Amino acid sequence: MQIAIDGPSGAGKSSVAKAVAAKLGIVYVDTGALYRTIGYYVRQQGITREDVAGMEACLPHITIEVRYENGAQHVYLNGEDLGDRIREPEISMYASAVSAVPAVRAFLLDTQRDIAAKNSVIMDGRDIGTVILPKADVKVFLFASPEARAKRRTAELQGKGIAACYEDVLREMKERDDNDRNREVAPAVAAEDAVMLDNSDLTIEQTADRIIDLARAALEGQK
Ligand code: DC
Repeated sequence: MQIAIDGPSGAGKSSVAKAVAAKLGIVYVDTGALYRTIGYYVRQQGITREDVAGMEACLPHITIEVRYENGAQHVYLNGEDLGDRIREPEISMYASAVSAVPAVRAFLLDTQRDIAAKNSVIMDGRDIGTVILPKADVKVFLFASPEARAKRRTAELQGKGIAACYEDVLREMKERDDNDRNREVAPAVAAEDAVMLDNSDLTIEQTADRIIDLARAALEGQK
């Protein structure tokens, strides 16, 4: 089973995907964490978000390993688990910048496809239905109004003890949406065969239930 969830930041992809994974007993793959990890490394090297050549030069020095420990995804950068350090707003902006670099996307392609080849997955990101898993059984493009997304993201960051204010989150989110949607490689757009799901007025549970219904229907259709 492959379920692809794409959509802009703060649409609730990770919370919803985690809930679906738990209910269906499949693996949740957070692909944004991979771009965040590269963004973290690039920033640590003092490279700016505009320096594409600098970002590319980092890649040979990076090994990324994804492990599942007690059902939770851990991404190791050169052997070190960065934990919530990759969730800082500054790293979000770096993740968005590195994700526009074709060499970075190519670097992460096999890691993502390998996980899906070995496990039943629900994978979230920006190009899962279009590039990574074009034959996914279910494809959903999850979205919500920018205001609803910024509200959720602010609460999520604050819940993790990361300082965040709504106005900054909303502004950075719009900037990131713009970068991610308008980049040349793998822009964050819905696959033609994706189900468009606006969850501005749905809870995580309700959204997860819709996706589970789609997954069950897809399985029935394959019988
Ligand atoms: O989902 P997230 O906010 O953790 O993602 C961080 C950034 O990584 C996001 O701004 C766009 C990029 N990204 C991507 O380009 N493709 C993916 N499959 C996942 C994330």
